Amino acid sequence: PRKIIIDTDPGQDDAAAIMLAFGSADELEVLGITVVAGNVPLSLTARNARILCELCGRPDVKVFAGADAPIRRPLVTAEHVHGKTGLDGPDLKEPTMALQDMHAVDFIVETIRSEPPGSVTLCTLGPLTNIALALEKAPDLAGRIAEIVMMGGGFFEGGNITPAAEFNVYVDPEAADAVFRSGIPIVMMPLDVTHKVLTHRTRVEKLRAIGTQPALALVAMLEFFERFDVEKYGSDGGPLHDPTVIAYLLRPELFSGRQCNVEVETTSPLTAGMTVVDWWQVTGRNSNARVMREIDADGFFDLLTERVARL
Ligand code: BDR
Ligand code: CA
Repeated sequence: PRKIIIDTDPGQDDAAAIMLAFGSADELEVLGITVVAGNVPLSLTARNARILCELCGRPDVKVFAGADAPIRRPLVTAEHVHGKTGLDGPDLKEPTMALQDMHAVDFIVETIRSEPPGSVTLCTLGPLTNIALALEKAPDLAGRIAEIVMMGGGFFEGGNITPAAEFNVYVDPEAADAVFRSGIPIVMMPLDVTHKVLTHRTRVEKLRAIGTQPALALVAMLEFFERFDVEKYGSDGGPLHDPTVIAYLLRPELFSGRQCNVEVETTSPLTAGMTVVDWWQVTGRNSNARVMREIDADGFFDLLTERVARL
């Protein structure tokens, strides 16, 4: 199986991503889960990741806490979307498994140094603070990471936390900028993709029909999470952002995109965290990311349903 580290800020859609990975154990080996402050503060993302491991019967997976704030800015959170705990919706048991003592940044550095070069993929589902700190601490990592597959940014679709910026990049633009400049192969799942995978009723009912504890907890999470978009925009479900990252590792043919240059705005107060994607190659800037734009939404939900059923 392909070795991955999941860096995350759970979040109901992060939960769906983690479940998709755990349900795909033949293909993906989760070396560890690192958490970062994002949707909710670090103490809650550290709690939530452990709840998810236990819910999926994987208390053996180690969870490491990382940065509790962005590199240079105060933390912005998203309780307005995810609720007070980040995983509002189902009744969840407090975790009993321990949080690791090691800092997430040290775990990332040590793991990538100890595994063969080019064998570990980083899956990032939250602000990129931990990854940028790891690259700063250990610049040799850049040449050893197979790929970063990230949920972040938006281009034709615009932003979801400001008119210009997507949440994960907005929270820590300096970190995202460092990652895009790192030279590591990047696959980017922007809002342009994730806003095409909505939790339509029929899709949620297929998850509910699985009937297991993890599946029913996921349904309760998604029903809480989607209310933000349904109430505010009248849309038919909520956008399932983060699991697109894991789905890409399992079924890249569900996606299409382009290799292009991406830069992150870090100075303007109006557009901080904007991902400027040179989709039409109007600059001579070197490409640094494979930016996805299309997804087979039904194929994605079939995959998610099939794998959650395995938990
Ligand atoms: C991203 O922000 C978070 O709220 C979600 O978990 C996702 O990672 C979407 O903009
Ligand atoms: Ca997230």
